[in-house]
Amino acid sequence: SFIIRLARTGGEHLVGADQTIAGVLRDAGVAIETSCEQGVCGTCLTGVLSGVPDHRDVFLTDEEQAAGDKIMCCVSRAKTAVLELDI
Ligand code: FES
Repeated sequence: SFIIRLARTGGEHLVGADQTIAGVLRDAGVAIETSCEQGVCGTCLTGVLSGVPDHRDVFLTDEEQAAGDKIMCCVSRAKTAVLELDI
């Protein structure tokens, strides 16, 4: 599990092993658009301000994944204890 910190909305939320970032945001009432929920379509693209994403999508290019400044919230996770999102 890891924590997402919401830079603009404020607040921190735990993402458990059986949860997704998108699901936790939805449960917290934070609006984020999703569509495929499988890391394919690109709808849930979100900026990352700090922390290291653990990319599980097939939407971002290898280069974009390596840059680590955006994440697909429906499938991807974090390699660091805290992931700060531009939400
Ligand atoms: Fe399609 Fe996340 S909802 S990539």
